[in-house]
Amino acid sequence: MPVIFHEGAKEFHLFNQTLSYVLNVLPNGQLGQLYYGKRIRDRASFSYLMETSCRPISSWPMKELPNFSLEFTRQEYPSFGTTDFRQPAFEINQPNGSHISNFVYVSHSITAGKPDWAHMPHSYVESPEEAQTLEIVLADAVTGVELTLSYTVFEQISAIARSAKFTNKGTDPLRLERAMSLCVDFPDDDFEWMQFSGAWARERAPKVRKLEMGVTAIESMRGHSSSHENPFVILKRPNTTEASGDAYGFHFVYSGNFLAQAEVDTFNVTRFTMGINPRQFSWKLTPGESFQTPEVLMTFSPDGLNGLSQNIHTLLRTRVARGPWRDQPRPVLLNNWEATGMEFTEESILNIARKGAEVGVELFVLDDGWFGHRTEFSGLGDWYVDKSKLPNGVKGLADKVNALGLKFGIWIEPEMVNEDSDLYRAHPEYVLATPQRSMSLGRSQLVLDFSNPEVVDCIYHQLVESFEGANISYIKWDMNRSITECYSRHWPADQQGEVYHRYILGVYSLYEKLLAKYPHLLFESCSSGGCRFDAGMLYYAPQAWCSDDTDAMQRLRIQYGSSYGYPISSWGAHVSECPNQQVGRSTPIETRANVAFFGAFGYEMDLNELTDEEIEVVKRQVQFMKEHRQLIQFGTFYRLMNPYTNDKGAWMVVAPDQSEAIVGLYQQMNQVNTGFLQVHLQGLNPDWDYEIDGKLVRGGDELMSFGLMPQDASAHPLAMLFDPDGSIDLMGDYDSKLYHLKAIHHGS
Ligand code: DGJ
Repeated sequence: MPVIFHEGAKEFHLFNQTLSYVLNVLPNGQLGQLYYGKRIRDRASFSYLMETSCRPISSWPMKELPNFSLEFTRQEYPSFGTTDFRQPAFEINQPNGSHISNFVYVSHSITAGKPDWAHMPHSYVESPEEAQTLEIVLADAVTGVELTLSYTVFEQISAIARSAKFTNKGTDPLRLERAMSLCVDFPDDDFEWMQFSGAWARERAPKVRKLEMGVTAIESMRGHSSSHENPFVILKRPNTTEASGDAYGFHFVYSGNFLAQAEVDTFNVTRFTMGINPRQFSWKLTPGESFQTPEVLMTFSPDGLNGLSQNIHTLLRTRVARGPWRDQPRPVLLNNWEATGMEFTEESILNIARKGAEVGVELFVLDDGWFGHRTEFSGLGDWYVDKSKLPNGVKGLADKVNALGLKFGIWIEPEMVNEDSDLYRAHPEYVLATPQRSMSLGRSQLVLDFSNPEVVDCIYHQLVESFEGANISYIKWDMNRSITECYSRHWPADQQGEVYHRYILGVYSLYEKLLAKYPHLLFESCSSGGCRFDAGMLYYAPQAWCSDDTDAMQRLRIQYGSSYGYPISSWGAHVSECPNQQVGRSTPIETRANVAFFGAFGYEMDLNELTDEEIEVVKRQVQFMKEHRQLIQFGTFYRLMNPYTNDKGAWMVVAPDQSEAIVGLYQQMNQVNTGFLQVHLQGLNPDWDYEIDGKLVRGGDELMSFGLMPQDASAHPLAMLFDPDGSIDLMGDYDSKLYHLKAIHHGS
C-alpha cells in the first residue's frame, strides 16, 4: 500500500521501499508538507514535524492561531499573498484584478495504477500493481476553481510523478498566470544544486553550487527545453558522492519553456518548484474548462548520484519511453550528414550505404536535403521529394537500401519553414510572427505555428505523401532554431499567452499522428544535436541525437554529463571522421568508437574514405557492439571518473546478474611521470572472481576496493618510446581502453 491516509491526523503518507513523502491538511484547510526523503516507518501522525512559531513581523491568516503563518509553513502547492511571500506554485488572475486564492481540501481518492493522458507525455505503468495514484481535490470558494493535485507512487522505482489540474467550476472566465507542476518545501537548506548546462555542441555539463538564501534558478524561454539549461535538476547533500548520500532528482516531462528554482528563505527552508515558465504564460480558463500541468518526476536515492541515476535510467527507459523499440537493442546506424551535407545524389548515397552494409551496419539514415528545393536558405516546409536528387522518390531509395540488407531511415524538420519555400509563399500566416514587427531568422528559417492544428495537419499530410509506399524504419526529427517574436495569428489577442505551450502540444500531436500511422517507427529526436533533450521527448522518441559535437573527447564529457539524468540507450552516439568537423581534433578510430559504444551506436561519415585497415577495425567495432549492446544499453551504468575534473574519464556497465561488465577508460591530455592509476569499479559481486579480457583474474571485491590497475603511460616516463610487451593500456593523448569482465566463479 504505497499511499496511506490517516483520517484522524488528516495526513497522507506516500512511500515505497526507498522513499517517504508525507503531507497533511493544515489548520486552514490548505495542504502542508511534512517530510520528503529516505523511507521512514509509518505512524498514525507525524503532526509534530510541522513547525509553528509566533514570529515577529509575520502575519497569520487565522485570527485564533497567531503561531500559524504561511510565511514559515511548509506547503504543498502554495499561493502568494496570504502571509506567504515566497515564490508561489500558481497564480490566478480574477475578473476584479485580484490574485488572492484559498484552496482548501475537499476530498481525495487513492487508486491502483496511473491514469493515462492523451495529449502530453507522461510516465505510465503496465499493470495497476506497479503504482498507486493519490488525487487530492481542493477548491477555492470565491472563484469556484477546483484544483486536483496528483501523485503517482511507483512501487519498484524510487519515484513519484506529480502534476496539478485546474478546472474552472465558477461562472467567470479567469487567467491562470502561473501553474507550476509541483512544489517541495524542504525543512533545511543544506543542499547543493546540480544543473546540466551548456550550449550548442557542449550540452549538459554538470554545474554544482551550494544553495544560499535567495533564488537559484534555471529556465528556458526559447520555446524548446534547450541546451543552455536542461529541465533536470538534482538537489544533493554536500557530502553526497557518486557512491553514497542523499540525492533528489527532478525531471520536467516537457519540451518547451520551463522554470526550475529553489528559494531558500530566511528560516532556511528550501522551496523547490518546477513547471512551465510563467514568463509570457497566461492561460484563459473559461467556465467548464481545465488546465493540466505537465508532469514532474521526483526521484530519490540514499545511495549517491550513481544510485539516483540508475533509478532514473530505469524510470525513463521503461516507464516514460514507449513503443516497440523501448526494450530493443538499437540498430547500428550509418548517417550521411557529415559525409555529404545536403549535396548528394541517389547514387552517392547508395555508395555510402553499400560500404555500410559491407561493415555490418543495420540502418542507413538519409539526413537533410532530400526534399523541396533544399539549400541552406530554402526548401524547409516543402516535403515533396527533390527528384533531381532522388529520381525514384523516397520509396525508390528505401527499396535499394533495403536490398542491401539495411533498414532505411530519413530526416525531417517538420516545425520549420524557409521564406524561400512554396509553403511560405502560399501561407505566410503559418509562421509564428508578431504583426508589424520584423521576423528574426535563425539558420535562415522561421518557425511554423504548431499551435495551429491546421499547420500540423498540413505538414503531416505532406510527409505521409512523400513516404507513400516506402519501407521507413526510423525518423530523425530535427528542430534547429529557437522561437522569437512568438505570436500566433490563429489565436485571439487574449490567448497569446498560451501560444508557447500550444506550440509544444502541436509538436506532441504530430508525434502522436506519425506514431499512429507508423507504429513500428524508431524516432530519434534532435535539435541541432541536444538542444531539446528532455524526458518529454523520450516519450515519443526513445533516443535523441546527443550533440552535434562528435569529437570523442567532447562526447566523453557530454555523454558523462547526460548520464546523470538520462539512460545510455537514450542518446545517439556516432563515430565520425577526423579531423573532427566541430573541433578539428584527430583522435584514434578506436577511441571514437570506445566513446560511442556507450549510446545508440553508429557512424557519421563516408566509410569509403577509410583505409582497408580502418575498415577492418570498423568491422570489428560493429561486431563488438552487436555482441554487447544489450549489456551496454540496458545494463546498470556507473560513472567512475569525471572527465570534467580529471585528465582521464571512466565509466562502466554491469549486467543485472553481475556476471559481466564493460569498463571504458579514456585519456584526455596525457601527462608524464604521474602517480599510478587505480580505477575503482562498482556493482560487481564481491564474492566472485572476474576474468578481465580473458587474461587476468581478479576478485570483484579487490576490483571495487583496490581498483583496476591500468598500465598508464602517464606513470611510465619512457612508455611513449618503449613498450616492449605492449602492456601499456593508455598510451598518450586521446587513447582509450575497454575492459571486458566476465565472472568465472558464480556463487562460489
Ligand atoms: C542539425 C542536426 O543536429 C544534424 O545532425 C543534421 O541533421 C543537421 N541539422 C541537418 O540540417
